[in-house]
Amino acid sequence: MDPQEYKLTTLENWQRMASGWEQHREDREKFVGPVSEWLVRALAPKPGDTVLELAAGPGDVGFTAAPLLGPEGHLISSDFSPEMVEVARRRAAELGLRNVEHRVLDAEDIPLADDAVDGVLCRFGFMLMPDPVRALAETRRVLRPGGRLALAVWSTAERNPWVTVAGRILLEFGLAPPPEPGAPGMFVFADEQRLRGVFEDAGFTLERIEEVPVLQRYDDVDDYIRVSNLTSGMFSRVWSDASAAEREAIATRLAEDFVPYAVAGGYALPGVAVCASAA
Ligand SMILES: C[S@@+](CC[C@H](N)C(=O)[O-])C[C@H]1O[C@@H](n2cnc3c(N)ncnc32)[C@H](O)[C@@H]1O
Repeated sequence: MDPQEYKLTTLENWQRMASGWEQHREDREKFVGPVSEWLVRALAPKPGDTVLELAAGPGDVGFTAAPLLGPEGHLISSDFSPEMVEVARRRAAELGLRNVEHRVLDAEDIPLADDAVDGVLCRFGFMLMPDPVRALAETRRVLRPGGRLALAVWSTAERNPWVTVAGRILLEFGLAPPPEPGAPGMFVFADEQRLRGVFEDAGFTLERIEEVPVLQRYDDVDDYIRVSNLTSGMFSRVWSDASAAEREAIATRLAEDFVPYAVAGGYALPGVAVCASAA
């Protein structure tokens, strides 16, 4: 797909999913909270710093950092989806944060001056962009000398059954297309060499790469389907187009594939994020 067309399609998708992400925000943060903690610890922001969060979605990573910046410092919470930025704006107001500026911006073309910020955060964003090296080069341009980037991507599909259990079933049933080779997607930076390569291509010096395990809990298969409809554009599109028989077949197969993940009171599906910091 042409990169511009890809961007418009994904923007439309994120605009559509913003309200679902807002509804699911608290539970999702319980799931990926360890990743937020890793990123903010690695960034180590100081009072008075300016920190930019890219592809912030509901904004939670930046909002973990904002209190550390103090009244003299400032967080720029950003996303290319205006609907997502509104979700983040409501959350910042709920938290009573006063040092946050909200911006609609594309990480591949950041409308900030050179050397404008002390730190950049990005959780699960770069791998979804058609030109991640350009986004990283833009990130480097806006970072002051000595500034730092902390980012997270997902490890391999095999290590993230919380999302791939459903993806594989939809693929096998012919309800979703196979991922295009080389196209942006959740697992494109699962290969550490590729991740190191894009950092280097953008001129960053990698400081640390670490895996952070996560665990997503579901009450039952219906809960998984409910959450997937709220948070996954692909799943929700397939589900809304599916016939009653197809829905039943998906649910039955999910129940079978969930057996290895049964715990008291439901299911716990694991995942692995890869967190990295660079200067
Ligand atoms: C998987 S969500 C992650 C949201 C948030 N960082 C989190 O971890 O909860 C990806 C986010 O990236 C945003 N996004 C995708 N491409 C972008 C781009 N080129 N520039 C800015 N934001 C982008 C989407 O709108 C969406 O909010």
